[in-house]
Amino acid sequence: MKEVRLAILFSGNGSNLENIYKNMNDKNFDDFLVKIPLAISSRKDAYGIERCKNLGLKCEIIASKEHKVDYDKKLISILESNNINLVILAGFMRILGKEFCSKFIALNIHPSILPLFKGANALKESYQSDMKIAGASVHYVSDELDSGELIEQDIIYKIEGESFSDFESRIHALEHKIYPKAILKALCKL
Ligand code: GRF
Repeated sequence: MKEVRLAILFSGNGSNLENIYKNMNDKNFDDFLVKIPLAISSRKDAYGIERCKNLGLKCEIIASKEHKVDYDKKLISILESNNINLVILAGFMRILGKEFCSKFIALNIHPSILPLFKGANALKESYQSDMKIAGASVHYVSDELDSGELIEQDIIYKIEGESFSDFESRIHALEHKIYPKAILKALCKL
């Protein structure tokens, strides 16, 4: 049995964080025992911090406005000192640089069918588009925004007249379904 240590990085609500932690921490998957010893928030007012408290998950806050390189160095140092093998981005609103990407394998979730609707307004753009379907994607993190190799995607059909908030809830439910699956796929490639 191989133990793999995940860290979850977030900046906001933290629903993916909670879902992944509840479904994967301290659990066996084939040859792996998954441990999630650490979360990191880039915002000190993120609701996800509250979720971490309730889950008993250690949460570090790195909220500095430092230059990207220095920020990434802090991240690398905390991740290394916690012996993290795989980094999970779940609503983490910072772009990670080359040094980070060369040291860690990281996954990200994005609320669209990539490569469509990259960037921070994906959900709104996908909702407003005339496409009949929408979806979510999990991909490896590269130093180019929302552009690394895809691991898992799934779709929903749009419902005529659906409110944005109902649409958002269905996309989040889809994310909660595909992110753990994508993590398992990535673990098999570690
Ligand atoms: C998700 O929609 C994810 O696709 C995007 O940020 C959102 C995070 O949601 N990258 P939550 O904080 O996990 O609830």
